Amino acid sequence: MNRLLLWVFLFLLPLAAAGDEERELSLRLPPASLGKWYRPANKHDVWLHTMFSLRRDMQAVSEYSALEDHQNLKVWLDRLEKDYRRIGEMVPEWKDELELQLFPRMRKADSPESLGRLQRKLAKSCEGCHREYQLTAKLRYRTPDFSGVKVESSETLDEESYQRVMRRLVMLVNRIKIASVDGRWPVAGEALEQLRVRLADLKNSCDACHEDKAPLERVLGQAVQEQLTALEVGLKKKDSHGVGRYLGELAVASCARCHAIHRPLAQLRRQLEVAQKR
Ligand code: HEC
Ligand code: HEC
Ligand code: HEC
Repeated sequence: MNRLLLWVFLFLLPLAAAGDEERELSLRLPPASLGKWYRPANKHDVWLHTMFSLRRDMQAVSEYSALEDHQNLKVWLDRLEKDYRRIGEMVPEWKDELELQLFPRMRKADSPESLGRLQRKLAKSCEGCHREYQLTAKLRYRTPDFSGVKVESSETLDEESYQRVMRRLVMLVNRIKIASVDGRWPVAGEALEQLRVRLADLKNSCDACHEDKAPLERVLGQAVQEQLTALEVGLKKKDSHGVGRYLGELAVASCARCHAIHRPLAQLRRQLEVAQKR
């Protein structure tokens, strides 16, 4: 028995501790020149559309090769090469990664099987780059950017940053909670009125990116209005238990739901931007 304990201390505990070590994950940033091929630097997300073309070119080459339709095969092989070369023209840092020597060989391939083998080699070069850069490119250039979004205050007409607005919102939610727990009903009522105004202001800012009303309705629509009304009734009845419950519901239906969609991406994007400027 004693010997077993000794074993545990000598060998298993150090192992468990090693398992708790901090792990790091490193992400590789794409060259900054990639940014020229995305909005807002460009009118369109040109890079992404070139990628969609490449996928289509690859499929057409496979299909015409299988059909042994040599005329169409030639047309699509030319397109594939042109689009593939665009990678190095757009991002010179990536020029050396390209497997251009495969194209003359693909044109000379004497059977669908040998063309297929060469295409799979080409696809390896697509996958190699995607493994390293696809996620970071997407996060950096194609996730919504909240850093420049302003919310107009209907009271002061000031344009406020998202961060400022958010800190105000959580402060008001907590003020309602604290004041209702301690029976300071007028303070809670005042904070609730402000929360209502602030949420309406926030809703007016969504159109910086959203044209349709459905996403706004989901997060700041009827359900939230009903919760605000229930809160008001709870405060009138001095029901601190009910107030706590409705506040929780509001925080889930509005704050948490919107955060689940927008916040992790906004944070990741900002971290990548900071790293890129370093
Ligand atoms: C040197 C780098 C590089 C090479 C080589 C490359 N890509 Fe890409 N590709 C990217 C990056 C970066 C993205 C991410 C773009 C984004 O999400 O905005 C991407 C995204 C894509 C997408 C979009 C996927 C999606 O649905 O969001 C497709 C399709 C694609 N690539 C096809 C190809 C094909 C096919 C090839 C090879 C013939 C290829 N790519 C070669 C860098 C590369
Ligand atoms: C900086 C740009 C930006 C701002 C500002 C923004 N969104 Fe979004 N939001 C997006 C993008 C992009 C998507 C994903 C594509 C889409 O659904 O349009 C999205 C998706 C959503 C979705 C999920 C899709 C759906 O239809 O359910 C909801 C909900 C949402 N946003 C709510 C809001 C609300 C509410 C506001 C304002 C308080 C807001 N967003 C402000 C860019 C933004
Ligand atoms: C667009 C939908 C949206 C709604 C609705 C929303 N938030 Fe946010 N919130 C965000 C985004 C996006 C960020 C991250 C901004 C960033 O990091 O650039 C954020 C960040 C925050 C932060 C962190 C601020 C900081 O100090 O960095 C707090 C706190 C917060 N929200 C509270 C709330 C509360 C409380 C509510 C509900 C009463 C709420 N939010 C509703 C989108 C939303």
